[in-house]
Amino acid sequence: MIEFLSRSAEILLGSQLEVDGWKKASARAAAKFVKTGMVVGLGSGTTVTQLIRILAEQRPKAIFIPSSIAIQKLASELGLELGSLEDHPKLDLMIDGADEVDPDFNMIKGKGGAHTREKIVASAARKVLIIVDRTKLVKRLGERAPVPVEVLPFEYKFTMMKLAKLNGKAILRTTSARAPFVTDNGNYIIDVKFPQISRPAELEAKIDMVPGVVENGLFVDVADEVFVGHEGGCARLKSKSDFLNFILRAKV
Ligand code: 5RP
Repeated sequence: MIEFLSRSAEILLGSQLEVDGWKKASARAAAKFVKTGMVVGLGSGTTVTQLIRILAEQRPKAIFIPSSIAIQKLASELGLELGSLEDHPKLDLMIDGADEVDPDFNMIKGKGGAHTREKIVASAARKVLIIVDRTKLVKRLGERAPVPVEVLPFEYKFTMMKLAKLNGKAILRTTSARAPFVTDNGNYIIDVKFPQISRPAELEAKIDMVPGVVENGLFVDVADEVFVGHEGGCARLKSKSDFLNFILRAKV
């Protein structure tokens, strides 16, 4: 039994290391697009963390706008120059991760709970590059991930009931201590698992209509290009046909 457990732990660790390598490959490919003089939005998550470490080695003369407290702290500790949207309302580029990406480059984001700030920063960017490992590609949104919805703590159970009426299973996100997870904005997250999402734009609008909702993790028409790390390196997807060819070849 012990032998069995340690072997499966080894396998798990091995595949996690592999996925980390794919994330790094996508981060490295996107980092090349950061040029001198640019103002660049930074998303959040483990892939963006890899990006920041790469940028810290390359030291491009650019200004970065972070979208979470954790990313702000890391970027500033590693010596990147930071700015705000107030001073730089037009960004040359935004680089961010995602939890799911569909063939139209629509996404589910917010596993880290930072999607509200990420959406704000992305809305200021001329170009949005998404960095993911190949496990994030799906044929239809909602295959695996729930849609994270940031809500006001006030009467959140009522908001949760309203969200469930949109035909989803709504669960309050909690910490390991079973307290509500609190976002950088002081709000809660309700994770809503929908059956596969056929009309993401419609659902995005419907969720935002629920009183108490601050922002949801559906990102429609936001991504311009997707950088996908995989066994053989990184694929740059610029179109739906690039996406479909990639998943056909990779058998995702
Ligand atoms: C955080 C996000 C992240 O970009 C998303 O969860 C992907 O994270 P990771 O790179 O760790 O897989 O939306 O709110």
